[in-house]
Amino acid sequence: MLTVIHHPLTRVHLTRLRDRATDAEAFARHLRLLARLLAFPALQGLTVNPVEVETPLGRAEGAELAVAPVLVPILRAGLGLVDGFRDVCPEARVWHLGLYRDHATLSPVPYYTAPGRLDAGTPAILLDPMLATGGSLTYAIGYLKQAGVRQLAAVSVIAAPEGVAAVERAHPDVPLYTCAVDRGLDERGYILPGLGDAGDRQFGTW
Ligand code: PRP
Ligand code: URA
Repeated sequence: MLTVIHHPLTRVHLTRLRDRATDAEAFARHLRLLARLLAFPALQGLTVNPVEVETPLGRAEGAELAVAPVLVPILRAGLGLVDGFRDVCPEARVWHLGLYRDHATLSPVPYYTAPGRLDAGTPAILLDPMLATGGSLTYAIGYLKQAGVRQLAAVSVIAAPEGVAAVERAHPDVPLYTCAVDRGLDERGYILPGLGDAGDRQFGTW
């Protein structure tokens, strides 16, 4: 199920990402700020245990995480969402998943995986700013399910309708969060109007 996050601040940061005049440093900064905002809905399902703490004036009931979530950025572009999530959830662990799209077929090619320990009930959040054809995310969700992850959500910044449909067809059980659903894809599989190549723009690869 897709949730589009409507918030004045997500619109403001997304506009800075879309703007071709935004340089790599500013792009990475706005992406991190967007990630903090996206972390709130994406981590809404975390479970907590009750704890008590002593305030200067007495005892107060509180909460601590029952299980730390795992963040799974899809390299490269997903890296830009990790720090924003860790800003608001420092307990999160990070597994990396390296995928690139073959330029001719647009199919995902896996080149690196680094899964860690999987505690019972560990929720995983896939991070990738761009959901274009949906090939990468469909592969990544399948990979995590095979690794034993049972609680899974995926976060993007911009999605194409084609990509959302493909992921929902393959994995209807996985909640998707995004800031915008754009018009569609061009002949090279880029999102229109999108923001260009999210990896190149945040790392200044040009
Ligand atoms: C981009 C993006 C996604 C993928 C989306 O990665 O970050 O991972 O394309 O496209 P899809 O929905 O059609 O699969 P890319 O392959 O450009 O690698 P990069 O992040 O290393 O630049
Ligand atoms: N990957 C990107 O970085 N941008 C797109 O528009 C599509 C895939």
